[in-house]
Amino acid sequence: MSKKYNVVLVGIGAVGAEMLKILDQRNFPIDQLKILARSSREEEIGGRTYEVRAAAEEELDGAHFVFFAGTEGAKGASATYAPPAIKRGAVVIDNGADFRLDPDVPLIIPEVNPEDIGKHRGLIASPNCSTIQMLMAVAPLYRVSRVTRIIASTYQAVSGTGRDAICELREQSPKVLAGELDIECHVYPHQIAFNVIPQIGSFKEFGFTTEEWKMDRETRKMLHDDSIRISTTAVRVPVFNGHAESVYIETEKPIVVERVREILGEAPGVVLIDDSENARYPMPIEASGEDGVYVGRIRRDPYVKNGLHLWIVSDNIRKGAALNVIQIAERMIADGLV
Ligand SMILES: NC(=O)c1ccc[n+]([C@@H]2O[C@H](COP(=O)([O-])OP(=O)(O)OC[C@H]3O[C@@H](n4cnc5c(N)ncnc54)[C@H](OP(=O)(O)O)[C@@H]3O)[C@@H](O)[C@H]2O)c1
Repeated sequence: MSKKYNVVLVGIGAVGAEMLKILDQRNFPIDQLKILARSSREEEIGGRTYEVRAAAEEELDGAHFVFFAGTEGAKGASATYAPPAIKRGAVVIDNGADFRLDPDVPLIIPEVNPEDIGKHRGLIASPNCSTIQMLMAVAPLYRVSRVTRIIASTYQAVSGTGRDAICELREQSPKVLAGELDIECHVYPHQIAFNVIPQIGSFKEFGFTTEEWKMDRETRKMLHDDSIRISTTAVRVPVFNGHAESVYIETEKPIVVERVREILGEAPGVVLIDDSENARYPMPIEASGEDGVYVGRIRRDPYVKNGLHLWIVSDNIRKGAALNVIQIAERMIADGLV
């Protein structure tokens, strides 16, 4: 009989809830499942009722895998409970940003750098959602010809901020439609309904935000290439779920558009929707709820030698977070690493 694992899930917000659905959908080999959050209660997800327990170190006893979908920061879920989980011998896989750039922590997209998984010392990090979908499309091209430059603009859904942001868009929208002028903003610094906000995270070096720097630092780490030059403008848009990205790349050697389509058509996890004549291209409303990273609008830059444009859309909660974490665990099981 194949082995089954004790799984602890910490956090049951936007990502945690999706993880439960995916564990179920993919028949993850679970012996015992425990769900931890800030408070104990029952939660109904995907037609099933789950017991949620208040997070505490002793709840991690006996876990083989601990998946983190909690909050980030010094007092966040991962910073508090990842070290005791590792001490107890569990493999920790974290959705958050706390450990992503730690040189001792592999940052993994299974389709991009699975060879790094084996370097873990108890903790593996899953990248930022925008980095994941960009690299799912860029890495297969990089393998054919090194990518030297990336300029990305993102159009990120509110689900990327979590449960409270989804509620904020839901609450603001009917008020704006009704002509109300006094719109309350709790999650974002500005109204998000019927607006776009060119700020995700806080402003750092050169005027780029933390989210924009994540695309740069995380990409360099996973491609093991510090010479690649990446600049991003990350924008929050009033879409419930599914991030979109306009990504411009320059490759060392030319790759013709037909060959780009061929490469991406064969890339695992990538789905081509690239039929402009029939108005077929990826969109969040079609990507939401799906596992694929959708790529379209593939075209050569008319002015820059070896320049290519891609339009990339994916469900940020699934491949951008929950699914990627579970795929890492599945890969570890398949490779006998746990
Ligand atoms: N949303 C995305 O698209 C996305 C993509 C990639 C990565 N991530 C990362 O995934 C993580 C989860 O994001 P989310 O969007 O699901 O957030 P969320 O909707 O705000 O949910 C956060 C969950 O974490 C729990 N939590 C918070 N502090 C905790 C603590 N100290 N101990 C135990 N549980 C705690 C909360 O518990 P209560 O329910 O009891 O309040 C809640 O269930 C974050 O690190 C985020 O950066 C998110």
